[in-house]
Amino acid sequence: MIHALTALVLALPLTASAVHQDSSFRRRHASVAHTPAYMRRAANYTIKDHFVGEDFLSWTFYDSSDPTGGLVTYLDAQSAIDNGLATVDCDNVTTLAVDANQTVATGGNRNSVRISSPETYSSGLFIADFAMMPTGCGTWPAYWTVGTTADWPDAGEIDIIEGVNLNTENQITLHSGADCTLNSTANTTGHILGTECTSSADADSGCAYQQDDTTSFGAGFNAAGGGVYAHLWNSDGITVWFFSRDSIPSDITSQNPDPTTWGTAAAIFPSTGCDISSHFYDHAIVLDTTICGDWAGPAYSASGCPGTCEDAVANSTNFVDAQWKINYISVYQ
Ligand SMILES: *[C@@H]1O[C@H](CO)[C@@H](O)[C@H](O)[C@H]1NC(C)=O
Ligand SMILES: *[C@@H]1O[C@H](CO)[C@@H](O)[C@H](O)[C@H]1NC(C)=O
Ligand SMILES: *[C@@H]1O[C@H](CO)[C@@H](O)[C@H](O)[C@H]1NC(C)=O
Ligand SMILES: *[C@@H]1O[C@H](CO)[C@@H](O)[C@H](O)[C@H]1NC(C)=O
Ligand SMILES: *[C@@H]1O[C@H](CO)[C@@H](O)[C@H](O)[C@H]1NC(C)=O
Ligand SMILES: *[C@@H]1O[C@H](CO)[C@@H](O)[C@H](O)[C@H]1NC(C)=O
Repeated sequence: MIHALTALVLALPLTASAVHQDSSFRRRHASVAHTPAYMRRAANYTIKDHFVGEDFLSWTFYDSSDPTGGLVTYLDAQSAIDNGLATVDCDNVTTLAVDANQTVATGGNRNSVRISSPETYSSGLFIADFAMMPTGCGTWPAYWTVGTTADWPDAGEIDIIEGVNLNTENQITLHSGADCTLNSTANTTGHILGTECTSSADADSGCAYQQDDTTSFGAGFNAAGGGVYAHLWNSDGITVWFFSRDSIPSDITSQNPDPTTWGTAAAIFPSTGCDISSHFYDHAIVLDTTICGDWAGPAYSASGCPGTCEDAVANSTNFVDAQWKINYISVYQ
């Protein structure tokens, strides 16, 4: 396996500080509509990897303690399958679930899964179609990529879908080594939360956008039938688009994606403030759901959830909708 231990140990360092930024950093960029040069290039992408159905069951199941302090026990592949937390249905939809049946003590650990791709990437056009994503009090799901060959954050981390508890607005975040900032006045559907991508254990908010669209995350995403997150990552920048189920472009469905036709992106991280290639490389794709921990814990009450996050983990009803339902993830280069 390609996965270095560093990537597995560090992970998701986004903390409560990012949540507090939501109000204090909230500012609309009066922006100039412009299309970065790399998006004006003619599209001609070739599918490199297409993950669907059983493919996800052969990804790497991380089964050590959660580095973000979550109240979860991540199961190995066989245990996850035996416990019904990693399943494939007859439509080839892969479900990755948090346990919602077992009795867990207040403040105890609940079973969950965290998987990472066998392949690693240093660029590409990534298209992920989810029918459902985890939501509920105490949950902290993420779809992200992270460097596997250097100590975090030197090979970078790209958080494409991330949020906590009952949130319905997605957060898109980069974490990097030194000398990397978000420098953009481009028109995006998301708004900037913070511009310092350089992260460390003590300052790990990263540079981030929050989407204003309540179908972008959680119950709102699920009510709309899910959707597609696409991101283009190359030496010119990282750009993320979101399409709710009923607005997925036909060129995505037909596997001939052309980002130049996709309209306003949710988030743009241009290379003008950050040398993307030297800060983001050798990434595995990761999907997980943790509970409470460094972000969902401190943000728990503010999100309108009752009691404490330690109480929430003991109430299995909170985890009935704590499920990723993956239609596919494709990588084009
Ligand atoms: C941003 O893009 C949207 C959607 O294309 C458009 O309606 C809006 O006018 C643009 N705003 C600016 C400032 O260019
Ligand atoms: C796309 O790339 C392939 C392989 O390089 C080439 O054969 C094809 O002509 C290209 N298509 C377009 C529309 O540029
Ligand atoms: C279901 O997924 C498997 C890979 O896990 C793939 O080989 C197969 O073609 C898929 N079937 C359909 C109908 O998409
Ligand atoms: C949990 O129990 C319900 C019935 O109460 C069942 O439908 C579901 O498959 C179970 N889930 C798991 C992961 O075992
Ligand atoms: C931000 O990007 C612009 C070009 O869009 C460039 O002129 C400027 O120097 C950059 N600023 C920083 C701090 O990197
Ligand atoms: C358990 O969680 C559900 C869903 O959040 C909530 O409706 C219910 O009141 C909770 N039960 C207890 C005993 O706290």
